[in-house]
Amino acid sequence: MRIDVLTVLPELLDSPFGHSIIKRAQAKGVAEVCVHNIRDYATDKHRSVDDYSFGGDAGMVLKIQPVFTLIEKLTAERAYDDIIFLTPDGERYNQQTANYLSTRQNLMLLCGHYKGVDHRIREHLITRELSVGDYVLTGGELAAAVVVDSVVRLLPGAISNETSALSDSFQDNLLSAPVYTRPAEFNGWKVPEVLLSGNFKEIAKWQENEALERTARLRPDLLNSRTK
Ligand code: ADE
Repeated sequence: MRIDVLTVLPELLDSPFGHSIIKRAQAKGVAEVCVHNIRDYATDKHRSVDDYSFGGDAGMVLKIQPVFTLIEKLTAERAYDDIIFLTPDGERYNQQTANYLSTRQNLMLLCGHYKGVDHRIREHLITRELSVGDYVLTGGELAAAVVVDSVVRLLPGAISNETSALSDSFQDNLLSAPVYTRPAEFNGWKVPEVLLSGNFKEIAKWQENEALERTARLRPDLLNSRTK
């Protein structure tokens, strides 16, 4: 899979894409994540990427030309399954969308900044708009990092034990059961007895009960949308 990220602040993405699973997935050739600086495509003499909004609303807007030029260049090189704009007024991002996106070949993510992007980009070039939650970030970069991270970790080969992505919270619209590691007792605090029993049938039953109980208590909304 290839993901192109378009931003006016590429440095913000160096760290999230330069470590751990995302770094390893790229090294293994499982995913290619390419970050593009929108400013490199500005053609005016100051290479400006933003301007005042028509109508005099407070705040700057990402200009159409540099974004258009960059999207045109990339779409001439390959076909994109989706051209996604990260924005707080987009469709709410969740695990189902991450699963879907992880089955695509080429994705483009446009990070908004300032008061947003010239709306003609959204009207004519963007195929999908995603929000990572009902709060406003300074820009779309952190939201893009969330999408890239949650999609890339699902790709076959990104995580050494592939089943571990399938047992994540939310994959079944269920939260995960609690996990513990050694020592079995610390500070007088004990690990649930059943996990030490070696009885895998009992352990699986306990995990399922815990998952259901935690979901009912913490996220009852998820149980209503379960399909099985
Ligand atoms: N840009 C600013 N806030 C955002 C959000 N909540 N989700 C996606 N992109 C954003």
